[in-house]
Amino acid sequence: MTKYVVQGGKPLFGEVEISGAKNAAVAIIPAALLVDGVCRIENIPQISDVTLCLKILEQLGANIRSINHHTVEIDCSHIRTTRTSYELARKIRASYYLIGALLGRFGQAEVAMPGGCNFGGVRPIDQHVKGFSALGAKVIVEGGFIRATTEAGRLKGASVYLDVVSVGATMNIMMAAALAEGNTVIENAAKEPHIVDLANFLNSMGANIRGAGTDTIKIRGVDRLTGGSYAIIPDQIEAGTYMAAVAATGGQVLVKNIIPKHMDCITANLQECGVEVEEREDTLLVRRSGPLQKANVKTMPYPGFPTDMQPQITTVLALAQGTSLVTEGVWSNRYRYVDELRRMGANIQVDEKTAVVEGVDHLTGAPIQAYDLRAGAAMVIAALAAHGHSEITGVQYIERGYEGIIEKLRALGADIRAEEEPEEDEVRGASAG
Ligand code: EPZ
Repeated sequence: MTKYVVQGGKPLFGEVEISGAKNAAVAIIPAALLVDGVCRIENIPQISDVTLCLKILEQLGANIRSINHHTVEIDCSHIRTTRTSYELARKIRASYYLIGALLGRFGQAEVAMPGGCNFGGVRPIDQHVKGFSALGAKVIVEGGFIRATTEAGRLKGASVYLDVVSVGATMNIMMAAALAEGNTVIENAAKEPHIVDLANFLNSMGANIRGAGTDTIKIRGVDRLTGGSYAIIPDQIEAGTYMAAVAATGGQVLVKNIIPKHMDCITANLQECGVEVEEREDTLLVRRSGPLQKANVKTMPYPGFPTDMQPQITTVLALAQGTSLVTEGVWSNRYRYVDELRRMGANIQVDEKTAVVEGVDHLTGAPIQAYDLRAGAAMVIAALAAHGHSEITGVQYIERGYEGIIEKLRALGADIRAEEEPEEDEVRGASAG
């Protein structure tokens, strides 16, 4: 068990390099199953969710060669099975992409019900199932597995209207349709940068997908995807998290290797809070010297303010002058972390989807828990900004999505370190002894 130990109250200064996008990588790696050949994927983030995705592919029979820390070559020419390991697949939400990819390539898939971050609410996959069914698959849930099959062995293109704008369903249906017979149209599609990235990856392997990034995506099924080389986009949320950290602690940081357009909404909200953001070609210079100002934020599908930045911006607003309102517009419940911020002195009331954030002068260090990935990022930001000492547990969630967070923050002058904590049994043993 690892915990992060933080001595807060130090402004951040320097430069930080943003890694490849987690939510693109965890879709593009499973999408390699559609490719009958070698695909080289660059700018892969070194995070535990990626390690799991690669392990799952290996278990299915993929040949994976690590070229360097951020590049792998995946060869799915000789897949042995379309049934994923229960133990591996249930650990990660993105394992649902294996259904679209396996079904698209082999006409069948058996995948453990996906796990992943649990922020308290339900995470349904009915829209994924709606899409697969429209393409001619029969989908059932049995013994903890989702089983999808086709009679003809190949899906048939169809029109799918999504009842909710879903990132996962959009990507999954796109994967399934890439090798289907005929044309597929996805309407009311999600428009996140990682959707465009997946379409670009598939197109670079020989797919014919148009309109990704708009709400109508058209896919002309092809017979085969062959190999190629592709580099994953930078992580919008990782970049936003470092921007929020500078907002909370003060200081000046150059956030490098980003696509400024992807950051527009986050930048605009932070500017409203009194943070200065200067855009250059593929960097943002983020500076905060004066007091933070209140702002109202509502999370929405892209190009709106991302839900995956909601805990981080709420932490910033907890330190702003005045009363801010945060509204969660994507998930039914994503405020579990607020109790932890309250332990540090934050004044936040949550009423269903809205948090009323009464800014306080400062937070005070405390023992706090990361309940999920982005809540964990918020805990790190709060601890960096707080007066005094904090210890963060549950950091395995943070390491699912943030490459080298300790090293990157230390390079910016933060006083943060990872410490091994004895397992509960060892603690019990010690006290008994
Ligand atoms: C992806 O989850 C991300 N995960 C999440 O990021 C992110 O919060 C979310 O998109 C929204 O941007 C991955 O990419 C692995 P959705 P996903 O389908 O695809 C409802 C992080 O921190 N819905 O866009 O599972 C759903 O309940 C993670 O990096 C249905 O009703 O999200 C939610 O209210 C956490 N039926 C809304 O749609 C469905 O079949 C959006 O969900 C699917 C979704």
